[in-house]
Amino acid sequence: MTPEEQAAFFTVHSDLPREGPGLPDDVYWAVEHLGLSGTLRVLDAGCGPGADLEVLARALPEARIEGIDKVPHFVQAAQTRVAAYAPRVTAELRDMAELDGTYDLIWCAGALYFLGVTAGLKRWRDALNRGGMVAFSEPVLVTTPASAEATAFWEEYPQITDLEGIKAQVADAGYEVQAHRMIVGAPWRAYFDPMQARMDMLRKLDPDAALAVALEENQLEIDRWAAVPEQIAYALLIVTPR
Ligand SMILES: C[S@@+](CC[C@H](N)C(=O)[O-])C[C@H]1O[C@@H](n2cnc3c(N)ncnc32)[C@H](O)[C@@H]1O
Repeated sequence: MTPEEQAAFFTVHSDLPREGPGLPDDVYWAVEHLGLSGTLRVLDAGCGPGADLEVLARALPEARIEGIDKVPHFVQAAQTRVAAYAPRVTAELRDMAELDGTYDLIWCAGALYFLGVTAGLKRWRDALNRGGMVAFSEPVLVTTPASAEATAFWEEYPQITDLEGIKAQVADAGYEVQAHRMIVGAPWRAYFDPMQARMDMLRKLDPDAALAVALEENQLEIDRWAAVPEQIAYALLIVTPR
């Protein structure tokens, strides 16, 4: 991406409540499934603007929770969002590839693919306390072979696989899957509806050439999702080291 393209991308991807599909219920599902409570140490890796960080803060009222992201304006948005919970809950500019803590839970919504499922889980193994867990969401094919529409939606993520494929990547990292659920439908609307509203607003502000391209690309993504929403999914998996 040129600097102009990157700036245009982040003009679209600013002031959004979240930067990937998900709902508070996904966080509560993981927390309840794990039976977690008390003075835990939790990391939200790739926290974006902090939607899940805020839910984790409410779901785990005694936990020390750190959100980290590599994009400064996402970190600022997350800091504002969890200011009421400081210093128990924080957001910082940090690389999730280089963890130095030991965590009871690493939550990672739609960001582990930046490291790769197997490579990322291997890296995080030493950052987990004994009994610690990772809960992550990852693009998944709901039908194989994928339909032409799903293939078009995922064209920039050709390494996408089905649930069995993700489980194999988890196993290759030396982890076991404890539970999973699919993120489909409403969690995607929670991501795309605010993005659509922002793009409609930006279009009225006489966008320059780079922003016009970014608007077109993001609109294509939303339109492709809207054509087959039941076929576009993330899988949310809870995994533990073997
Ligand atoms: C698809 S967004 C999801 C954001 C957030 N979890 C959510 O659901 O709203 C992926 C996030 O991962 C972050 N990210 C990617 N690579 C990273 C890295 N190496 N370290 C920290 N954050 C990273 C991006 O900046 C982005 O905010």
